Amino acid sequence: MAKQNRQSVKSRVRMQDESEGMDSHLHQLFLDQLADIYDAEQQLTKALPKMAKAAESEELREAIEMHLEETEEHVSRLEQVAQSLDEKLKSQTCPAMKGLIKEGEELVKDHKDTSAIDAAIIAAAQKVEHYEIATYGTLATWAEQMGHDEAARLLRETEEEESAADEKLTSVAESIANERAHME
Ligand SMILES: [Fe+2]
Ligand SMILES: [Fe+2]
Repeated sequence: MAKQNRQSVKSRVRMQDESEGMDSHLHQLFLDQLADIYDAEQQLTKALPKMAKAAESEELREAIEMHLEETEEHVSRLEQVAQSLDEKLKSQTCPAMKGLIKEGEELVKDHKDTSAIDAAIIAAAQKVEHYEIATYGTLATWAEQMGHDEAARLLRETEEEESAADEKLTSVAESIANERAHME
């Protein structure tokens, strides 16, 4: 009986340790992914002006320029997220964004001076937006799970802007396609 009691206390302690450990592991993963998207957003502030410049349609160029302004805001919003947790964002490279930007630049280069240049830019930009939507959605959910309410609110705000940017690109693609159909 005494042995049984000892064991159950031990297993209770272990369960408690594990749940605390899980929270701190999730918190670490959260900080790691925050640093990842922080770098990704900064890479984008350099890549988007080049994409805007390569665009043929004025509507597309304006949409990208508008999203560049939002992207700059996303960088500072991530700093606010870290501040709300009394944490500092470490500097690390996001290899995924590096790859997406590289692929986008190759696409633009390969289709430059063709009638498909804007379609190429939109394809590259939407891949980027989907990466961001996935990242912010995950980060906001983790923040909610850990009770980081202010961080969660800020991350959801950015997630919504990324979704709106993605939808805007779809509508620009449609209007470019319509214009072309009229010209033919
Ligand atoms: Fe962003
Ligand atoms: Fe974005």
